[in-house]
Amino acid sequence: MKLIHHIAELRTWREANPHVALVPTMGNLHEGHLHLVNLARQHAEHVAVSIFVNPLQFGPTEDFTRYPRTLERDADKLRECGVDLLFAPDVSQILPATPRCQIALPALANQLCGATRPGHFVGVATIVLKLFNLVQPDIACFGKKDYQQLSIIRMMVEDFNVPIEIIAGETQRAADGLALSSRNQYLTPDERARAPQLFQQLQLITHLAQQADANVSQLEQNAWQTLAEAGWQPDYIQIRNRHLAEPTPQDQQLVVVGAARLGNTRLIDNLEFSRQPA
Ligand code: PAF
Repeated sequence: MKLIHHIAELRTWREANPHVALVPTMGNLHEGHLHLVNLARQHAEHVAVSIFVNPLQFGPTEDFTRYPRTLERDADKLRECGVDLLFAPDVSQILPATPRCQIALPALANQLCGATRPGHFVGVATIVLKLFNLVQPDIACFGKKDYQQLSIIRMMVEDFNVPIEIIAGETQRAADGLALSSRNQYLTPDERARAPQLFQQLQLITHLAQQADANVSQLEQNAWQTLAEAGWQPDYIQIRNRHLAEPTPQDQQLVVVGAARLGNTRLIDNLEFSRQPA
């Protein structure tokens, strides 16, 4: 595996390596990322992974400085997985100055996670577009765990005719159902034991909402209430269609998305499901 920190070297590598699938990450890799690496390998001759903790996607009071940076360990894992390129640039390479241009995103970017994380998705989209332009992959893989991020990236790629195929990886979970996330390590042992409650509420909703006559907002409210009573600070629990628009009665392919804070840690999760025709 080649480890590259500079854009000039990346360009040289890319010229010599056709047909590339990129897995963009912020490092601190877990099984969820490695699943994406394996998915990438199934779709392209060469696999590139980027590790860049993107300052643009963190709010002023968020965890940018304490976000775990574990480059050596990450590189070992990727080497074991047979990754061809690890691109791990410094902030000075990717953001030599504050970008003057910004991507305007659809209203979805200000809803759900965007409602409490203003500017987050513009920060994500800006860096993802830069990484796309730098690596110029044929394919890029993103996890469904960040469902809203995935939806927005798909919209950006479609609207700007970015010639990259986006492939989504299924959320990887611990044995008790908790979605794997680098932020899980912020949880205390007691919080970690309670953390699957978010997934359990989403499961309950998908079970109950499958009936065409289910009262969707009541289900969302019940889950919210249950989490609040269990000591969480729920942010949102919402049923949407698979493009994350408000579902119409005709929509049968749905997803329930949720975000809630447990102590100091904000967790997100989602589950896709189908419901009977109305
Ligand atoms: O999902 C992530 O790790 C980040 O949001 C991404 C896509 C690498 C952009 O910084």
